[in-house]
Amino acid sequence: MRILVIITCTFTSLFCCFSHAFLATSPPLLVGPISSTSTSSTRYYPFCSKNFPAIGTSSLKSSSNAADNNNNIDDSCDVLILGGGPAGCAIASLLGSNGKLDVVVANKDFDKDWVPNYGVWKDEWQTVLDEYKSFGIELDGGEFGRSVDREWDVTDCYFGGSFDIPTEKRMRLDRPYCRVDRFALKKSLTKNFRVVEANHMSNAIGINVYSPAGTLIHDEDGTTIQLQPKDADSSPITMRTKIVIDTTGHETKLVMKDNIEPYTQPGFQIAYGASVVVDETESTNLSKIGPYEKDAMTLFDYRTDHFDGNESETIKANKAPTFMYAMPLGGNRVFFEETSLVARPAVSFQECKDRCFKRLKHHGIVVTKIEEEEFCYIPMGGALPARDQRILGLGGAATMVHPSTGYHICRCLMGASSVAKVIQEELALEQPNIDRAVASSYDALWSPGNIRQRNFATFGGEFLMKQNVVGLRGFFDGFFKLPLELWGGFLAGWPGLAYNENHESWEKRIWFGLNFIVKLPLPVAADMFLSIVSYSLTENFSLIQSVTPLLGDPPSYKYKRNMDSIGDVAAKEEAVGMIRQSNADVAEMPTEVAITAEKTKDVEIVEST
Ligand SMILES: Cc1cc2nc3c(=O)[nH]c(=O)nc-3n(C[C@H](O)[C@H](O)[C@H](O)COP(=O)(O)OP(=O)(O)OC[C@H]3O[C@@H](n4cnc5c(N)ncnc54)[C@H](O)[C@@H]3O)c2cc1C
Ligand SMILES: *[C@@H]1O[C@H](CO)[C@@H](O)[C@H](O)[C@H]1NC(C)=O
Ligand SMILES: *[C@@H]1O[C@H](CO)[C@@H](O)[C@H](O)[C@H]1NC(C)=O
Ligand SMILES: *[C@@H]1O[C@H](CO)[C@@H](O)[C@H](O)[C@H]1NC(C)=O
Repeated sequence: MRILVIITCTFTSLFCCFSHAFLATSPPLLVGPISSTSTSSTRYYPFCSKNFPAIGTSSLKSSSNAADNNNNIDDSCDVLILGGGPAGCAIASLLGSNGKLDVVVANKDFDKDWVPNYGVWKDEWQTVLDEYKSFGIELDGGEFGRSVDREWDVTDCYFGGSFDIPTEKRMRLDRPYCRVDRFALKKSLTKNFRVVEANHMSNAIGINVYSPAGTLIHDEDGTTIQLQPKDADSSPITMRTKIVIDTTGHETKLVMKDNIEPYTQPGFQIAYGASVVVDETESTNLSKIGPYEKDAMTLFDYRTDHFDGNESETIKANKAPTFMYAMPLGGNRVFFEETSLVARPAVSFQECKDRCFKRLKHHGIVVTKIEEEEFCYIPMGGALPARDQRILGLGGAATMVHPSTGYHICRCLMGASSVAKVIQEELALEQPNIDRAVASSYDALWSPGNIRQRNFATFGGEFLMKQNVVGLRGFFDGFFKLPLELWGGFLAGWPGLAYNENHESWEKRIWFGLNFIVKLPLPVAADMFLSIVSYSLTENFSLIQSVTPLLGDPPSYKYKRNMDSIGDVAAKEEAVGMIRQSNADVAEMPTEVAITAEKTKDVEIVEST
């Protein structure tokens, strides 16, 4: 037994991580025309943003690896983050928070503002704030503090116009909603890292294989990647790092999606949003703008009575539903957004814009100025990242968007914290295993339990995509009649967020489902029942797996060392023993056994000294 253990250890050093395999077949590293004077690793520091001076430069030496001796390396770091959106800035500031890692964000547009008006539930946002505080990162700023610029105590919905719900009827949810101050959030998350104003230029063409050849190469200790600086005439920067995290968004070119497991095509959330100023001189009640109260967030206005009298428009609005999402911003300013929740193919932006202004006109809302426009395009659902890849995806790049609502920001920020813990821990080891670090990070994001929960929500997205406006009004009217902890958990859909504990096990999800279906209008309930049956038959039982103990867990992302090269150690041991004691003239030793014999000899020598 003891020998067996020692043999296994000796063998360990012989194991190649899978990266070696393709390293051997990759063409040599292509290096641009970098002169010998450009090899200093400090040369590219001018690319650091002025506001966020290089920190932790002393830890550069920690990126010790063979490639450091290579004259072709321009810069090196412990972790390289590609992309400077919420996912990129979040993971970078978390990783750098313990002062031990040299973290670089590469993005040639780092200075550009973030675009989306992120809307969040106040209690979900609080769980994010608490999590970041535990890393010493304070999300602050914004008019209301906490990187929030607007806050509403209540959230309103309108589902009237079908199932005997009167058109004017308002459903009020007693749950506060906030608008994230995207400028304050970016500022809060721009700490603890360096910025290199350059983009990656590779495309994954297979797992861990990239084109153009030589722009991205993995090896046992890390990755060498070429980055194109903002200035197109500059030659590429060759960056050496231990781990690459891709946060370049939904349509990443580096993170391969898993198309072995059954998956559905993504759907798309499309919305036309506008921050507007309205004329209130004719207003009879200054606490409202049209039907929308200034002290409330309007999450859903799914009514279609503004199309009454126009048959073709009514039919279109019925078949491809959109709703109004309205954030009163104080005084006579409002952010209106006409939104298609999820559709495949996507609804047109022009259609959303036309419907937005038609609805406002119907409500007697007179827009005098458009201050800002937002074109929201969010791929939802689709395949998860493939397993065994060395590039770690995060945020949109790791398909972390809620597959039936499009909510992402809180999920992405919470996921970043799980990943940061894994990576900080692995890189603190004397001999970090990069494959394990990446695999464990993926597992921290998409644990089998979380995949099961996602599969449940993916069914929700597929169901919503099939509904006309009547179905959607019925669906959400029933949904919000559930207790808050049930609907809140469904909307969260990510470990650690408020109320998610009510959706984390199959028992809880089936409980949710049973409670929900009885709250639905009969035709919607019947449709849902049929959809469950047909979906279960066509989609590899992922739905059944998510609401029953049957069918086990989806495959995990956990790191598994490739054990094939060990073979059956006990059998080989036995052969070695028998051959040594053999009296035959010739005792044939198979290659595999010969290697084991070699090793046991080592062991015996070791033991005798
Ligand atoms: C208009 C809009 C409104 C939204 N509203 C909400 C909302 O209200 N609530 C919510 O929860 N979610 C919302 N979302 C969804 C989600 O939060 C966003 O999609 C979110 O910005 C995704 O974050 P991310 O960091 O993963 O990617 P992104 O924010 O898309 O960031 C990608 C980054 O990668 C960079 N990049 C691209 N290519 C390269 C390259 N080759 N090399 C280096 N860098 C590169 C880009 O410049 C960018 O900095 C909204 C999305 C949109 C588009
Ligand atoms: C204005 O609207 C608010 C909110 O609906 C209502 O409480 C108030 O009574 C209205 N005031 C007038 C003068 O109608
Ligand atoms: C209905 O609306 C369309 C524009 O969407 C318009 O072209 C058409 O004339 C309208 N029909 C009627 C009867 O008002
Ligand atoms: C399961 O998925 C595979 C691959 O996508 C597909 O070929 C097969 O038909 C699916 N099975 C069921 C029962 O849906």
